[in-house]
This record gives sequence, structure tokens and C-alpha cells, in this order.
Amino acid sequence: MIYKGENITRTHMCGELNAHDADKEASLMGWVQRRRDLGGVIFIDLRDRSGITQIVFDRKIDEEAFKLADKLRNEFVIAVRGKVKKRPLENVNQKLSTGEIELLVNKLIILNKSNTPPFSIEDDINVDESIRLKYRYIDLRRTHMQKNLIIRSKATKAIRDFLYDRGFLEIETPMLTRSTPEGARDYLVPSRLNPGEFYALPQSPQLFKQLLMVAGMEKYFQIARCFRDEDLRADRQPEFTQVDIEMSFVDVDEVISLNEEMIAYLFNNILDINVAIPFPRITYKKALEKYGTDKPDLRYGLELVNISDLVSKSDFKVFSSTIKKGGLIKGINAKGCASFSRREIDSLVELSKNFGAKGLAWISIEPDSSIKSPIQKFLTEEELYNIIGRMGGKPGDLLLFVADTAKITNFVLNQLRSELANKLNLVDDNKYNFVWVVEFPLLEFDEDQNRYVAIHHPFTSPMEEDIPLMDTEPLKVRAKAYDLVLNGVELGGGSIRIYYEELQKKMFNVLGISEEEAKEKFGFLLEAFKYGTPPHGGLAYGLDRIVMFLTGSENIRDVIAFPKTQHAACLLTKAPSKVDPKQLEELFIDIRDTKK
Ligand code: AMO
Ligand code: AMP
Repeated sequence: MIYKGENITRTHMCGELNAHDADKEASLMGWVQRRRDLGGVIFIDLRDRSGITQIVFDRKIDEEAFKLADKLRNEFVIAVRGKVKKRPLENVNQKLSTGEIELLVNKLIILNKSNTPPFSIEDDINVDESIRLKYRYIDLRRTHMQKNLIIRSKATKAIRDFLYDRGFLEIETPMLTRSTPEGARDYLVPSRLNPGEFYALPQSPQLFKQLLMVAGMEKYFQIARCFRDEDLRADRQPEFTQVDIEMSFVDVDEVISLNEEMIAYLFNNILDINVAIPFPRITYKKALEKYGTDKPDLRYGLELVNISDLVSKSDFKVFSSTIKKGGLIKGINAKGCASFSRREIDSLVELSKNFGAKGLAWISIEPDSSIKSPIQKFLTEEELYNIIGRMGGKPGDLLLFVADTAKITNFVLNQLRSELANKLNLVDDNKYNFVWVVEFPLLEFDEDQNRYVAIHHPFTSPMEEDIPLMDTEPLKVRAKAYDLVLNGVELGGGSIRIYYEELQKKMFNVLGISEEEAKEKFGFLLEAFKYGTPPHGGLAYGLDRIVMFLTGSENIRDVIAFPKTQHAACLLTKAPSKVDPKQLEELFIDIRDTKK
């Protein structure tokens, strides 16, 4: 680069120089991380993306550079030239890759000054996240955040490498489009040229990727931005990125096997581990039975056990009346937890109530085999014996039970399971337990709308053998849908699609979607399906969620360069914001009093 007529060229990055470079001339550029003034000598830690080099200004080496160095403050941007010097053994810094050397500066150029940053560029800072988001460009200078973005970039490349290698085409699809069928609220964009009409930002490229299969592209993928106006959580953003994949002439097994190869390639590549494939598969039904959730964490046991049949006629009304009402009684054997204090047990009861249970019944099997339990007096010897037997209870174990509707029982015990696993230190952060959850139900009944709705979306294919059930017992129909779950988190999901008209009609029928409504919403897709549609299917991953695992991040915002807050706001640009009344006028939009 040219600076005030002088040509200066960066020869090395700040993380690059080592003892082999001793006595070489080198030029570095970067930011002042830290400055120490020892009288006749000034030490600067110079930082760029690659690392830090200690540079030295010595009055005896270059008076001019030394004087100028006195002006340097944190985050000033500078260029330096000098000679690489091996440090004496006692001064070697083992923590730095460049710790064996320092650069004796004979030329300093201050390329730019900096205001005092609002927080220091260090990893263990205690700063409110809102400040970090407001000054994101400074936050991103921290090694930790840089590492996250570097891993994100590498992961994206690994995915591209893998899919290109397997003959996939990367194809972009529109951002200004119509509503897609994922079922969250849309972000709308008004059209100036078509007053009163709106585009929807895509919740996913779902419809376009199916059209690309009709178009004969056969194998498509896209690193696609998706938009969903939904309530945000630690692993949800209003604007997020999917790895979106679709393939023709495949069924469930082909999609799954390609994808586990890709995920294993990605994780092995980035984390240098050895992810074994094929991944285990569990049906949705089994997942709910054993774990109470369709996103099971398989790193630990503590499986749920159904004891409903053992207590359906019990004198303990909490149990027998739950069964009568069609509910479910399940328990967890907290191995070795009979040692819990009464307070510890009470806090589990409290926790369960907070998650919606009416109570938490427990049976503690003391080391001497005696029983402590608030429900013992309601149970017969035989019932107690059978329950303990079914639960695999041994001296020292604590058995915990919830009786409620299937939904609440499963939900509460899933939460309790994860709470116990944490409390008992059963969660190993170095384990990556992938599992495919398969055979999701095709439909669920929506009480509010009083009709069946698709669990995945209306183009998801039912399993062949279940098609006849669509007419008789729709809730029993299983779908060719699958989710990839890692350590209790849904990384991705997809399905084999309905590709022939007759079945699609049947599906709309069950969903109570009239021909007119289907035409209005998805007419273009249904029309396309009439022109020779290959069997096809695919899936989509949340790239942000994958990167959370690859970086060990707890918060999705830590893996996105410019994320939004829980209120879907960007604190840096202050979006969303009011707009010029002129812009609204052009769009024929009136804003009502928003306070009402
Ligand atoms: P689905 O709606 O399951 O499927 O989304 C796929 C994956 O995207 C991620 N994800 C999110 N990540 C961050 N923030 C969000 N708000 C968010 N919402 C979803 C999840 C999820 O598993 N079109 C279908 C896929 C298909 O059938 O091929 C779809 O979008 O990791
Ligand atoms: P009660 O007869 O309501 O005092 O309950 C006796 C025991 O059963 C207490 O330990 C409660 O926590 C527990 N209990 C009450 N309701 C339920 C329920 N729905 N599921 C599990 N345990 C319950």
C-alpha cells in the first residue's frame, strides 16, 4: 500500500514470525493491543487477525520511531518495519506462537488513531451484551469472536467442498417472494410498483428447491438466508442461515446416508474428532416413550419408564384417575440419588411444578433397602414391588414420577431428566451424540382451528404403508420426515415430498384445504407438478446451530457477525427504524397510532 507517497508492504502477519525468521527484515501492520513504557524502551503488542507480535521501540535503535511510539494508544492502527530478534530464553513467551521473537522497530507509521474503545479487546471481559452488540466491530476484534467467525467460514467451505464433490449445484433462490409453508409469521416487504401488495421474505427456500427438482437440477444446495418472525430463544434468530439441500430420485435412506457423510466430514474436519456413521435412528414414537421429547440428548441414560399399567387400578387416586382420564404415568430412576436431602428432593418437586406438573411423586430406596416415600401409604406391597421392579430400582436409587396428560408428563420428565443429568455431572461436552429421529407423524390436530395440520409441511409424503390410514385414522399416519438431533438440539430436518397429484389432493383434503385455497397459496407449485415431477426429497440444517456446536457456543448471537437481539433489533444500525413519510407515501402506507 501507499502511505503519503511511500510504498510500504506488509511482509508477515502478526501471528507468523518465529525463531526461524531471526535476523530477517519484516514489516507488520495491525492494531496496538497493549503498550508498556519502560523508560528508554517501549514494548507494544501488535495484533492482527492472525495473532500478536511483540514489537520493541528502543531509543538506541531508532530515535525517531521511539519518539513517535510515545504517541501510540490502544487500538491505533500502525505499520512497522524492523528486524526480527530472537528473545533470550528467559524472555520467551510460551503462550504466543511468536513468543520466541520480537521485532526491533526502525520505522513506524501511524496509519490511524483510535478513540478509547468502550471495552478492552480481551476474551474474558465482563461487558453487557447490548454494549458488545452496539460496538460489534470492536467486539469482533476479540480473539474468541474471531475464532467463531473463522470456524463458521471454514464450516461453510467444508460443506461446499463436500457437496460440490458429490455433484451438487449451488443455486440461489429469490428473497422477495411469496409466503412459504413453514408456518411461522412472515416478514413482509411492500411493493412500490404494485401498491397495496407485499412480498414475503422466505422462511426457507422450500418451494423453489422443489421447483428446481421439477426443473431437472437433480442435486441442489444453497447456503440460504431465511426469515421468520417468531419468538426468539437462545438458538433462534429472526434472520438465520440454512444449509438447504434437495435431491431427485431418492427415498429416506439415500437422503440420510448422504447427509450423515456430510455431517461426519464437517465435524471431523473442523473438530478433528472421529464421528462414526451411520448415526443411530430412533422413531418419533420411541423417542417420546424413552425421553419424552423428539429431540433426545443421548449422552446419558436416565430414560423414562412407563408404569401406567401397573397402577391403573391403584387406590392412589392421583395415579388411577390420571389413567382414567387418558393420561400417562412415567418415571425416572435417578441412580444413586437416595442420598439427596429432603431439600434437594423438594427443589425437584418445585421444578416439576414450575414446568406444569401437579406434583412429583418419589420413592427413595435406602441403602438398607427400606423405603421412604410420600406415596408409599397409598400403594399396596405388590404395586410398590412391581413399580420398583419395572424401574430397575436398587438400594441407593431415587425413583421420580409424574402423572398427567401424555404431553405434560413427557414435557416435565424431559426437563427433569436434563436437570438431573446436569446435577449429576452426566453431561459430557466432548461427546457428539447424533441421532436421526424418523417416522414423525404426518399430522396433528389443531384445537384452535379445529382441523388437522401438517406437522412438517403439506408437501411431506406419508409413508406408503400408512396412506390408507389417511381416510380412517389420520393421526396414526407416519410421514417420511426426519430430523437430525445432536445432544438434544435439532440441527436440521426434512422429508421426502409428495410428487404426484393424486396424493397431494388427498393430503389437502385431510388438511381441509380447499382446491381454491391450495390454488391461491401454492398454485404455481401444483401447476409445475403437472409437468413431469421426479420423486424428490431433502432437508435443511440451521447453519448457525451447527456452528454453535463447532465453536462450543451457548448463544446463537456469538456465531453471527451482526445478530439481532431478543427483540429482533440490531443495536448497531438501530434497525428497525421509522422511515421517511415520503417513502410511506410512495408505498401507499399509513401508519396507525402504534400505541393503541
Ligand atoms: P425447518 O423449519 O425444520 O425446515 O428448519 C430447518 C432448520 O433450520 C433451523 N432453524 C433456525 N435456526 C435459527 N433460528 C431460527 N429461527 C430457526 N428456525 C429454524 C433449525 C431447523 O432444524 N423447508 C424445511 C426443510 C425441508 O423440508 O427441506 C425447513 O425449513 O436448525
Ligand atoms: P397429595 O395426595 O396431593 O398430597 O400427593 C401425594 C404425593 O403425590 C405428593 O408427593 C405429590 O407431590 C405427588 N403428586 C401429586 N400429584 C401428582 C402428579 N400429578 N404426578 C406425580 N405426583 C403427584
